[in-house]
Amino acid sequence: MCGIVAYTGYREAYPILIKGLKRLEYRGYDSAGIALLNGDLRVYKKKGKVSDLEQFVSQDKLEGNIGIGHTRWATHGEPNDINAHPHYSANQNMVIIHNGIIENYNVLKQDLLNKGYHFVSDTDSEVLITFIEDIQKNAECSLEEAVRLALQKVVGAYAIVIISKNDPRLVIAARKGSPLVIGVGKDEYFIASDATPIIEYTNEVVYLDDHEIAIIKDKKLEIKTLDSIIKAPYVHKLEMDLEAIEKGGFEHFMLKEIFEQPKSVADCLRGRLNAGEGHLQLGGLTEYINRLVSADRIILLGCGTSWHAGLVAEYLFEELARIPVEVEYASEFRYRNPVIRENDVVLAISQSGETADTLAAIELAKSKGAVIFGVCNVVGSSIPRATHAGAYIHAGPEIGVASTKAFTGQLSVLTMMALIIAHRKGTISESKYREILVELQSVPAKIERALKLNAQVEYIADVFKDATNFIYLGRGYNFPVALEGALKLKEISYIHAEGYPAAEMKHGPIALIDEEMPVVFIATKDSTYEKVVSNIQEVKARRGRVIAVVTEGDKLIKNMADFTIEIPAIHEALTPLLAVIPLQLLSYHIAVMRGCDVDQPRNLAKSVTVE
Ligand code: G6P
Repeated sequence: MCGIVAYTGYREAYPILIKGLKRLEYRGYDSAGIALLNGDLRVYKKKGKVSDLEQFVSQDKLEGNIGIGHTRWATHGEPNDINAHPHYSANQNMVIIHNGIIENYNVLKQDLLNKGYHFVSDTDSEVLITFIEDIQKNAECSLEEAVRLALQKVVGAYAIVIISKNDPRLVIAARKGSPLVIGVGKDEYFIASDATPIIEYTNEVVYLDDHEIAIIKDKKLEIKTLDSIIKAPYVHKLEMDLEAIEKGGFEHFMLKEIFEQPKSVADCLRGRLNAGEGHLQLGGLTEYINRLVSADRIILLGCGTSWHAGLVAEYLFEELARIPVEVEYASEFRYRNPVIRENDVVLAISQSGETADTLAAIELAKSKGAVIFGVCNVVGSSIPRATHAGAYIHAGPEIGVASTKAFTGQLSVLTMMALIIAHRKGTISESKYREILVELQSVPAKIERALKLNAQVEYIADVFKDATNFIYLGRGYNFPVALEGALKLKEISYIHAEGYPAAEMKHGPIALIDEEMPVVFIATKDSTYEKVVSNIQEVKARRGRVIAVVTEGDKLIKNMADFTIEIPAIHEALTPLLAVIPLQLLSYHIAVMRGCDVDQPRNLAKSVTVE
């Protein structure tokens, strides 16, 4: 939520900032701005996308080797030019960019108003930079000291970068709860919300931790805690390549990411699974594996699509490993004073590794003594660093706001976890274990086959693109797939869609069915197949229009449904990995046909770093 980028070095800052903002735009895109320091401190900001800002500044001479940039997802104050970042301090000597929420900003603002300060925007960020200016004035201290003192009084979450014309060789950044990565080049530094704006220039990065301040001055980087304790920067080597963050010939990132899934799932399984040798291992779990094996209960935490992956995992862990599971929205769990017992294990699922509610839920569970595992995509992000152990999904950067390849990556890791635990516990027979390993290994090739349905799905999308409502139904492993299919459609095409367990339809949604209502069934040949066939008949009897995702060769449903989409046969526990593919494609094509902004749907952001 909100993207931050900053540069200090010998190059012109503007091109780096604008390119960086485009890479970060998935984090928020209601307004954007930059500030450049070149003797003068100039701010340019504009409501709308980064391209609007680019157009707005195109006549200006944009020079300066120090600069900061921001792309916004509004929290305080509506998206307009004034509320866009950067924000000046009252004397206009400093500017700030900020990601997060200053919860006590009202109290701080009132104090500052009483002292005679004025504010031009409605933002908490302007309050923070003015507060810093006020402290510096009263304490007659350095900017670094003023930032430190201010942050000690601030309640909430932030990632900030500040530059000042009084000290043009200085850049200050700080974080608590919102990510910041510092790219270390030769005589130059880059600061960003994630590594994507940096990777083009350097692969050496330092991740700032919570309660730390980075001071970049005279080509040197120093990191201190809020208590002034100096920390040695730990430089990580990034393994991301530039190709991974570009569209590579696809019209949208979402489509590219859907089509990447044979590779991203193969990357996820690589080195971990060798079905021929019966080998399965997740290195990151080794140290804590006994806690998982002896768990009395697993609590799965996530939001959005990651929560749906958790719902699939509930079926996997319970069926294969015979461990009771609860799947929780992180945002609900954290405010519920949940009961966590000694042998409970908490497993947090997150693509970005930055979701504020998931992070807060982890901290709560930790404070109650739980062992926490993480299943994340973004390497080095906050959640993997807050958990005791875990496994990355290795899907590569996911930039489309609607999550696709991260979902199949999460399912792959969660399946491997369930199998490892089940094998250790002896709750799965050797033959069934070996059978599922072989099936899991076949997933990338079968996703490849499912992607061949693209043209057929596009045709179906054209038939239903003007619908105003959709219902998605599935049972067992396919119930979470129904939820995920409905979420994908809502997110990017703005069509109202509901996912339901197929049998629950009779308790409400059936009242909505008429000849106008498209009903998507996920009706693969599994243990609930016959029941789902009956549900399809119930919908047809009420003249609903049925689109059914079925197993290749299914003739029965073909004769009943208006459209069938045939996916390869696979072990029931792995069905979601394939069944979700046509649903991703369906939502994608409908959204494109309706003229929606697929990669940056309205009101959403990829990484939700505010509660
Ligand atoms: C946002 C994104 C979703 C994502 C959810 C959870 O809502 O738009 O695609 O599923 O956050 O994010 P996480 O990074 O924790 O998986």
